[in-house]
Amino acid sequence: MSLEQIEIVVVGSCNVDLITYTNRFPKVGETIEGTDFKQGFGGKGANQAVAAAKLGAKVAMIARLGMDGFGTQTLENFKTQNVDASFVTQLEGVPSGVAPIFVDASGQNFIVIVSGANAKLLAQDLEPAKALLSRAKFVICQLEIRQETVLEAFGIARGAGVKTILNPAPAAALLPGLLELTDLILPNETELELLTGKPVTSVLEARDAAKDLIVAGAKEVIVTLGERGALHVTDHSAVHHQPRVVKAIDSTGAGDAFIGALVSALSRGLAMEHAIEFANAAAAVSVTRTGTQTSFAILEELKLAPPASGMPVEVA
Ligand code: RIB
Repeated sequence: MSLEQIEIVVVGSCNVDLITYTNRFPKVGETIEGTDFKQGFGGKGANQAVAAAKLGAKVAMIARLGMDGFGTQTLENFKTQNVDASFVTQLEGVPSGVAPIFVDASGQNFIVIVSGANAKLLAQDLEPAKALLSRAKFVICQLEIRQETVLEAFGIARGAGVKTILNPAPAAALLPGLLELTDLILPNETELELLTGKPVTSVLEARDAAKDLIVAGAKEVIVTLGERGALHVTDHSAVHHQPRVVKAIDSTGAGDAFIGALVSALSRGLAMEHAIEFANAAAAVSVTRTGTQTSFAILEELKLAPPASGMPVEVA
């Protein structure tokens, strides 16, 4: 795959995930025994890139790693997963990003990220990748790197007519100007609450809060609602996509599986509402497997996903 063929560029984070499985989460000060441990590749940026590439999209990553074993293994992983890493660089004197993760018996998790080299990807570092960012169909960012870098990436992309996609995770207030440069924003309920200051406990509340993001400058919003599916909101519509019902054993990276699948489908020319159904299926498959990137499906495996529990519904 040559750089000229790249359709999706992810400017974002790479972590090594250190996942401990337990029956339940410990209380403060308590020691409990875990049931399993897995080390794997993660980071919201890398996950979204790999999720899209596993489904056949032509993807490049722009990121920073430490000059350490985790960094070298991450580069190897991009090669294995067919993600172009021409603009992924290892830096001296800083560790690669890591993420200790705890998953309980119901598949819920909590995650601590230690940014390391991810925080060293600066706005000016995008200069050599300007042509790549300007030629792509989609540029995707999350908030595990500096927002100034996201702003620069979206500025370059928007200037070239490339669609910009923001996953505002982990939740944080956005720099002025960022929403106006965002074509599609995909928050979960918690992130949407933080961004709008509104409660998001129902689909109707999600719709109302999402409309605020559109008024503030984003063109389209998809709220990922976990077990309740996803809600797509534009300035004139709100469509609730029903979930696929599965038994979740590990939800780590499910949001990333959704976004990678969504953008891979959009890059193949699928209409948004079909791309959301495809992404829901990919997220459903990912929660039935352990690990982060190891849980992401290839195209064939998406047939394993149960059908949606209903047709998409217009939310009046
Ligand atoms: O979204 C899941 C990801 O969040 C994990 O892979 C972890 O590395 C953190 O970035």
